[in-house]
Amino acid sequence: MASSSSSFYFLLLCSFLFPIISLSTAKTTSFRPKALLLPVTKDASTSQYLVQIKQRTPFVPVKLTVDLGGEFLWIDCEKGYVSSSYKPARCGSAQCNLAQSKACGECSPPKPGCNKNTCSLFPYNPFIRTSTGGEFASDVVSLLSTNGLNPGRVVSAPKVLFTCGSTFLLQGLASGVTGIAGLGRKKIGLPLQLASAFSFNRKFAVCLSSSTRSKGVIFFGNEPYVFLPNIDVSKNLIYTPLILNPVSTSGSFFEGETSADYFIGVKSIKINDKVVPVNTTLLSIDKVGNGGTKISTVERYTVLHTSIYNAVVGAFVKALSKVPRVKAVAPFGACYASKSLGSTRVGPGVPAIDLVLQSKKVVWRIFGANSMVQVSDEVLCLGFVDGGVETRTSIVIGGHQIEDNLLQFDLAASRLGFSSSLLFRQTTCANFNFTSIA
Ligand SMILES: *[C@@H]1O[C@H](CO)[C@@H](O)[C@H](O)[C@H]1NC(C)=O
Ligand SMILES: *[C@@H]1O[C@H](CO)[C@@H](O)[C@H](O)[C@H]1NC(C)=O
Repeated sequence: MASSSSSFYFLLLCSFLFPIISLSTAKTTSFRPKALLLPVTKDASTSQYLVQIKQRTPFVPVKLTVDLGGEFLWIDCEKGYVSSSYKPARCGSAQCNLAQSKACGECSPPKPGCNKNTCSLFPYNPFIRTSTGGEFASDVVSLLSTNGLNPGRVVSAPKVLFTCGSTFLLQGLASGVTGIAGLGRKKIGLPLQLASAFSFNRKFAVCLSSSTRSKGVIFFGNEPYVFLPNIDVSKNLIYTPLILNPVSTSGSFFEGETSADYFIGVKSIKINDKVVPVNTTLLSIDKVGNGGTKISTVERYTVLHTSIYNAVVGAFVKALSKVPRVKAVAPFGACYASKSLGSTRVGPGVPAIDLVLQSKKVVWRIFGANSMVQVSDEVLCLGFVDGGVETRTSIVIGGHQIEDNLLQFDLAASRLGFSSSLLFRQTTCANFNFTSIA
């Protein structure tokens, strides 16, 4: 009796408050952010790049590993997923079409991740190379807006599409992580979904910190991208076309799907301005989607097809022949005593490695800070690894090589803008001013 009367009272109170609530909601929703912001931390034990969003009703923080080439957002729904705004995607719905899902399933008893007549996708964990089937669904997500200089107010998108993963699929992910933020080139990838939810330009930018103690940043939407001391990194980017691989490079996909990975056209490699002899056939994408160059946040270091690896290490060692090598430390092939390499503003003093793109003038130059890895107090190694002769993609540019570089992915123009090392411009990816104006 008491409880029913109190809920009656609650209803009354709600209807009384309704005009005030609806006014304040209208005010929040009329705010159209130009860009959104996700702080990124580098996990100390796995080196994975982590972000945190808020999701569900009521909102809970959800920690995710970033996969630049991941097809979509997936989150474990098996354990602890409680939300009143969870909505499974019905078979044949616009959402299922957008996802190009060809799987329709039944599941009971109903709960998030298990409903009748819903389409499913295959969430993939690239760290353990495993995927599973999972219900496709939507829920509310909130994150920070930005003017490009500071974090702004919190905004939310009511229906962000994602796939339900399973608890076992979290293996190999950093502690506390419950899913993967796929930033890949798909309509259901996070960048395009957020661009359409907030009607901003179909662009995003990634700037990863090399330190596990200070945060890097991902921007969704328009520039500027300003880092302390007041440097707008979106100016002076170098541009190269993004190449669409017609064949999926994911661990699980439907036949006929294109790749969600971001490929660029490396035409040659130079070390100390000399061309490294490599088999150029490996540098382009063939009919079955093999070969070419992509960018990855899953690989810690750049992975090269064996023949390219041997040529690059050989040329690098030759260019540094005056400096004695020390015993190699796996998985690297060429190591040096730190003290025998000088130090520059852009890291250890070693020959620059150039990825030559669409013309001789368009070059992604890799300096010591991005080419060398500190394996101990005394030893630095060339941070490229041998991927074997069976690699699907010949060059996979890994995390270490893109840290403290800003990469802008412009999906509308299908081009990549890159800054090269920000150390040259006396800033780093950890220099975004997270201090709020409020
Ligand atoms: C270059 O690579 C292609 C693709 O793997 C291979 O078929 C070809 O034999 C290679 N050419 C040489 C000269 O090794
Ligand atoms: C960071 O942003 C805040 C808020 O706009 C500002 O007050 C502060 O001066 C900025 N910090 C630096 C070092 O510029």
